[in-house]
Amino acid sequence: MATQNIYILAIESSCDDTAASVMLNGKILSNVVAGQSIHEAYGGVVPELASRAHQQNIVPVVQQALKRANVDKNQLSAIAFTRGPGLMGSLLVGTSFAKSLAYGLDIPLIDVNHMQAHILAHFIDEEGFNKPPFPFLGMTISGGHTQIVRVNSHFDMEVIGETIDDAVGEAFDKSGKILGLGYPAGPEIDKRAKLGNPKAFKFTKPKVEGLNFSFSGLKTAILYFIQKETKANPNFIEENLNDICASIQYTIIGILIDKLKLASKQTGISHIAIGGGVSANTGIRQALKDGEAKFGWTTYVPKFEFTTDNAAMIAIVGYLKYMEGDFAQQNVTASSRLKI
Ligand code: KG4
Ligand code: ZN
Repeated sequence: MATQNIYILAIESSCDDTAASVMLNGKILSNVVAGQSIHEAYGGVVPELASRAHQQNIVPVVQQALKRANVDKNQLSAIAFTRGPGLMGSLLVGTSFAKSLAYGLDIPLIDVNHMQAHILAHFIDEEGFNKPPFPFLGMTISGGHTQIVRVNSHFDMEVIGETIDDAVGEAFDKSGKILGLGYPAGPEIDKRAKLGNPKAFKFTKPKVEGLNFSFSGLKTAILYFIQKETKANPNFIEENLNDICASIQYTIIGILIDKLKLASKQTGISHIAIGGGVSANTGIRQALKDGEAKFGWTTYVPKFEFTTDNAAMIAIVGYLKYMEGDFAQQNVTASSRLKI
């Protein structure tokens, strides 16, 4: 029997990255991301600037994705796009573009939930990367999200824990800002943490019931601590930067691992898959590896380019939905607070 070739073009524009990807039968042919450096000067994403940059980037990014995949738009089977959650102005650019292209080519349109996509990124066919078996726990950790999800099947997911204030990436970035580091500060804190003593300074972990997270108290604790220490010694930050970074990172990882331990205990699930930009952190990767020996976990970390915001993860959801015939109508709208 001849197998059908399913080509999906996927578009992601939920925050500050304009991304497009082409997938053939579950395998990525191209994965293009245009970041927006304009936000660095502001120390965070400025929604209005993000939306404008998406408008400038979307056509060249899609063209690049098709070119690198060596696929003509007339070969496409469907267009997948991020419907939400995210910044409304940003989502609208990708949504409108995807709708017009699908209409023009007269092919199906597939709406994708960004949070499901971070988790389903583990199902991209990629040599050297195993796919987690159901049920598993997905933990999405990034500058915009912190969630633990019970994944029963591709489209049967339940959020069992999430942040009640800041995302974990924000905890890294805002701590970095207090220390005078650039934005985003996560990678720099990670680098310095390797050179410092994680137990040099102690920050109390927030007390949040159950599987939810809170990071805003930690940020305030760090701010007060730095204010107090620099009053006594104006050079405190410079003299102790690596130790401070190591201690902050150690505290944040402790919070994440404690919640994963509890989630695993409550659900009896020991397969744990992470995603989102913070999964690049060397400390969290090591802590998960340690969890395999200590708690009997099996852990899954996707290829780096599929963990930060990207369109390959939108493409895999598009492909899975295509196989189920789950298509969107032309009247579909962006939804900034879309739930899993
Ligand atoms: O997934 P992502 O690229 O974008 C979204 O926020 O959706 O994640 C970016 C976040 C930033 O907060 C950044 O500081 C953090 O991921 N990050 C890291 C590391 N690399 C990126 N945090 C800690 N350690 C890292 N190595
Ligand atoms: Zn994301």
